[in-house]
Amino acid sequence: MATVKWSECALVLLLGLGSTMAIASPAERGEAVHREKGCDACHGERGASVAPDQFPHLSGQYASYLEHALRGYRDGSRRHAVMNQMAADLSDREIRELAAFYAAQSGLVTAPRGHPRRDQRSTTR
Ligand code: HEC
Repeated sequence: MATVKWSECALVLLLGLGSTMAIASPAERGEAVHREKGCDACHGERGASVAPDQFPHLSGQYASYLEHALRGYRDGSRRHAVMNQMAADLSDREIRELAAFYAAQSGLVTAPRGHPRRDQRSTTR
């Protein structure tokens, strides 16, 4: 009796795990890596830095740029004591997933050139 219940449990667990793995996109896996590796401590919960004068925003950046930056930190061609250490044990796959996660977030919004903000427009004409 008990054996049947356990195997049922195991089956449900396996099916559950299987479906989670199947639906997690690279960006979703990147979000988990972002937390597990502690990147959120400096770069914010979703890559939007809470102290951008010290830690750059990563959200909304091009994935290719982020991958290049992380590979550079990992192989030492881009030097920064903290980031060289943070990137040292990242796998290629983790780098791709992290980059996909940050790239999927909305970035900073800046006013387009040639379109002054309403409060800066002349009101005399
Ligand atoms: C202790 C704080 C701290 C932690 C933790 C941290 N970073 Fe950084 N990160 C920085 C700082 C500071 C810089 C700017 C370094 C420089 O000038 O090259 C940076 C730069 C970066 C850049 C380059 C951004 C750009 O615009 O060129 C990326 C990408 C990045 N970090 C990703 C990560 C990832 C992924 C993790 C987790 C594995 C992580 N960081 C953990 C502080 C941190």
